[in-house]
Amino acid sequence: MKILITGSNGQLGNSFRKIAKNYNYDFVFTDKDELDITNESQVQSFLKKNRFDFVVNAAAYTAVDKAENDFDMAYLLNATAPYLLAKYSKKYSSQFIHISTDYVFDGNSSTPYSSMSKPNPKSVYGGTKFYGEKKILRVNKDAKIIRTAWLYSEFGNNFVKTMIKLAQTKSNINVVFDQIGTPTYATDLAKAIMSMINNMPSQNIFHFTNEGVCSWYDFAKKIMDLKHLSCKVSPILSKDFPTIARRPHYSVLDKSEIKDKVQIKIPHWEDSLKECLKLL
Ligand SMILES: NC(=O)c1ccc[n+]([C@@H]2O[C@H](COP(=O)([O-])OP(=O)(O)OC[C@H]3O[C@@H](n4cnc5c(N)ncnc54)[C@H](OP(=O)(O)O)[C@@H]3O)[C@@H](O)[C@H]2O)c1
Repeated sequence: MKILITGSNGQLGNSFRKIAKNYNYDFVFTDKDELDITNESQVQSFLKKNRFDFVVNAAAYTAVDKAENDFDMAYLLNATAPYLLAKYSKKYSSQFIHISTDYVFDGNSSTPYSSMSKPNPKSVYGGTKFYGEKKILRVNKDAKIIRTAWLYSEFGNNFVKTMIKLAQTKSNINVVFDQIGTPTYATDLAKAIMSMINNMPSQNIFHFTNEGVCSWYDFAKKIMDLKHLSCKVSPILSKDFPTIARRPHYSVLDKSEIKDKVQIKIPHWEDSLKECLKLL
């Protein structure tokens, strides 16, 4: 079985590289130097030549605040490029799998969002990811979209690494406690996608995060505790920590469908955080 992972120098892409040896499949890893997913002729000729069984798009424009002033680039990468991958995956008989985000939701709910919940993005990043979802499903009715949230890993830049870095120079940091969601270890997401490849469900949209619920404050506090860092973490409100992009106050995702239909067990976020911290 031949599997393409695009954007493979990112957090999720590198997590696939890490777990690939556990599967007896032929993985091909590309990032923008090998396959620029915004370039239609490159996408077409690469998928035509290689005839993958699965195309997993781990590339995206993920700079949430920067996207607010960079709509065109965010749209190109988060909407146009996934559309191209979906279109040519269909044309050359590859199953297309794409990753989306909890930021497609407005955060006004107080119960977990299911795959049937209505998206209402409040940021350019969330909006372009939602456009991407719609464009993919319009051109490829078999495509799979997995929404995830608060992704971290031992690779690249993320909240966990930022907290550890800040703790080296600061004795006290403030972290918002009115944005509630679930951290997701990219290795767990990569493994879930591999389970999906081995047990392909029929529906299009799934949600995947680790188990459990917390605020960014709880997440930061747990990182400091587990790493035995003395930096004090203080809870603050989002209104006292203004950011360029609006973020949902509540973006917990309901994972019951992926658990039932793909038959996976999902680790609790605290257990996965411990695993990741061992590698940092
Ligand atoms: N990070 C999160 O907290 C989070 C939360 C929810 C959902 N997600 C979704 O999860 C997925 C994986 O996120 P991630 O954190 O692993 O992303 P990431 O670390 O930002 O990686 C994205 C990769 O895509 C590459 N890329 C950029 N432009 C490209 C192009 N034209 N062609 C091919 N590759 C290109 C990037 O390269 P450069 O770095 O060189 O530009 C980078 O290596 C994305 O779909 C994201 O939207 C992420």
